[in-house]
Amino acid sequence: MRMVDVIQKKRDKKELTKEEIEFFVNGYTDGSIPDYQASALLMSIYFNDMTDDERAALTMTMLNSGDKLDLSAISGIKVDKHSTGGVGDKTSLPLAPIVAALGISVPMISGRGLGHTGGTLDKLESIPGFKVEISEKDFIKQVSEMGLAIVGATGNIAPADKKIYALRDVTDTVDSIPLIAGSIMSKKIASGTDALVLDVKTGSGAFMKSEEDAIKLANALVRIGKSVGMNCMAVISDMNQPLGNTVGNTLEIEETVDILKDKGPKDITKLVEILACQMAVLGEKASSIEDAQKMVDEVIKNGKALEKFKEMIEYQGGDSNIIDDYTLMPHAKFKIELPALKTGTVSKITADEVGIASMLLGGGRQSKDDLIDYGVGIKFHKKVGDKVDEGQSILTIYSNTENVDNIKELLYNNINIGNEVKPIELIHKIIQ
Ligand code: URA
Repeated sequence: MRMVDVIQKKRDKKELTKEEIEFFVNGYTDGSIPDYQASALLMSIYFNDMTDDERAALTMTMLNSGDKLDLSAISGIKVDKHSTGGVGDKTSLPLAPIVAALGISVPMISGRGLGHTGGTLDKLESIPGFKVEISEKDFIKQVSEMGLAIVGATGNIAPADKKIYALRDVTDTVDSIPLIAGSIMSKKIASGTDALVLDVKTGSGAFMKSEEDAIKLANALVRIGKSVGMNCMAVISDMNQPLGNTVGNTLEIEETVDILKDKGPKDITKLVEILACQMAVLGEKASSIEDAQKMVDEVIKNGKALEKFKEMIEYQGGDSNIIDDYTLMPHAKFKIELPALKTGTVSKITADEVGIASMLLGGGRQSKDDLIDYGVGIKFHKKVGDKVDEGQSILTIYSNTENVDNIKELLYNNINIGNEVKPIELIHKIIQ
């Protein structure tokens, strides 16, 4: 087989065979296919899309390039959640203990933040002592014993995806639905869970800016999952403004605890509950969403979900006293208010630019090896639809330097105050 023929076929909008896709993925991973040919094929895929069969072959070849976790030692149905990423998206943190408190095993492999999006692992590391790098054996033991663990990738999961993703990043072929779908699902299938709830974001802070593309991606993800026997569904949720009131690592752990104490912001609490109900149904603990909602309410109200979070922190070496004393986590030296420049209703908060503001404060990474400043971030007092008076604080900036004029300017440029505002729909669609 010759790579030039594979490129030509995709360039001419023809369907690639499983063997041709294997030839490309394996050849690029072992170095026998050069960057320039792989780039040409990626760009052809970007423009000409892939059929369901091609997407399945791409996913399975990337999956088979590395290890697959064997979770068979954990009894019962294992359910995970994956979000396509956003700003202020701390959903996994309260969600996993809620679902574990229902008696479902939640083995969660999470990632770190890059650019404007935050990462679950970085947020957890703002808890003193918390360890996210755990061996596969200990990960399985923890989930078997207490029903839940949130860790970084163990072993060698989908190395082909790692290599292809790095090339996509520098050839502007990241936001291609078949390539994203293959990339996400190869890692999720390798992580060995039985069922998966996907939270596909749409809006300014998401990969998929339009609802139409988010629906296409969600359908692609669900179809790939089902083709390998994984029970999948997707929720399309809004990412036009940050989720919840906080963006930043310590701040998002504080908000997580607030949610588990039943005093969190309405939007994120609602999303967490919707995802938890879907996981309860996929985990066969509830026969309907209505039943699941009652169970979810109960474990939040009776403190069992918070207790699970505490247990997980202790199991992973962290200081669980943070639950009652937030001062035990790193905090920024300065709190600087951002007063509204006029009276009106907040009409827009551009999520990705808020993520960039938090990153510039030191809360995120501009490149992979940057260190995180856990205490910095942004706490909103007003969100889209809220009325605000001139001079009233819209948000607080948590910073370790006093001069934040550049951050203030960025935020002012990305927060609009108007008159009449259309409310944001948090859930756009559910795809079974
Ligand atoms: N997340 C992934 O893991 N892969 C993509 O291609 C995009 C988002």
